[in-house]
Amino acid sequence: MTRTVYVNGDYLPETEAKVSIFDRGFLMADAVYEVTSVLDGKLIDFEGHAVRLKRSLSELQMAEPCSKDELLEIHRKLVELNGIEEGLIYLQVSRGSDGDRDFAFPSEDTKPTIVLFTQNKPGLADSPASKKGAKIISIDDIRWGRRDIKTTQLLYPSLGKMMAKAAGCDDAWMVEDGYVTEGTSNNAYFVKGGKIVTRPLSTDILHGITRKAVLRMAAEAQMVVEERLFTVDEAKEADEAFTTSASAFVMPVVEIDGVTLGDGTPGPIAKRLREIYLDESRKAAV
Ligand code: PDD
Repeated sequence: MTRTVYVNGDYLPETEAKVSIFDRGFLMADAVYEVTSVLDGKLIDFEGHAVRLKRSLSELQMAEPCSKDELLEIHRKLVELNGIEEGLIYLQVSRGSDGDRDFAFPSEDTKPTIVLFTQNKPGLADSPASKKGAKIISIDDIRWGRRDIKTTQLLYPSLGKMMAKAAGCDDAWMVEDGYVTEGTSNNAYFVKGGKIVTRPLSTDILHGITRKAVLRMAAEAQMVVEERLFTVDEAKEADEAFTTSASAFVMPVVEIDGVTLGDGTPGPIAKRLREIYLDESRKAAV
């Protein structure tokens, strides 16, 4: 089916949507993005994604393409036009183009480029992958130093996923100065003796919207959370591990660098958090 996508004010068939070859998103990854999930035809944590988008834009002195209300309307219209019950909405804002290539930013009156499209993913909430759990490898984190800004510089995360695939695994956790930063497209956690451990927020990792919600829900469920640096070795000795992201919610991890965690099936805390997250998020969806 041909999707209807959104480009700079227009709803178009995907085959007719166009962006300039001089767009700085294309030439320089001078762009930020958000991925928002859809369950029951409704948006999960739209507010969180809108707030983080605003912050990413502001950190890069990029203009806001439209208001939050307009963004919400565009998201909802795309969900409706494409009949999405379960899936994702990808949004990208770039610094646009003034018709040439230049390292310096274009003039202030250059309009940002805004693009949104849907990804239909029936069964996203009930995914077989979440029942099996993910196998992870660890790789060096060689990304730039502002990972808190959600830019489209995804070449290394993409290479990381390919390294995982080549090793017969599902994903990679990145390690810097001996400590796990995050997954290629998710935040990372392990559980030992009932305590959930995850890296604290800083410019070293993306401030996950799912992370924020899951940590709040964990606290509400009287679970103990410790935000501190941790090593891959600690995670390998854990009872269980998991990741969080808008695209996979809470994803259990069952193997790290060939070491099986627990009995090799998703752990009880990851499973419980996934249930709570899906349940609460559906209730709060807009
Ligand atoms: N990725 N860390 C990184 C590096 C990410 O790319 C993501 C999200 C997260 C989790 O953030 P959130 O909970 O807000 O989705 C953490 C999205 C899903 C992606 O690139 O497709």
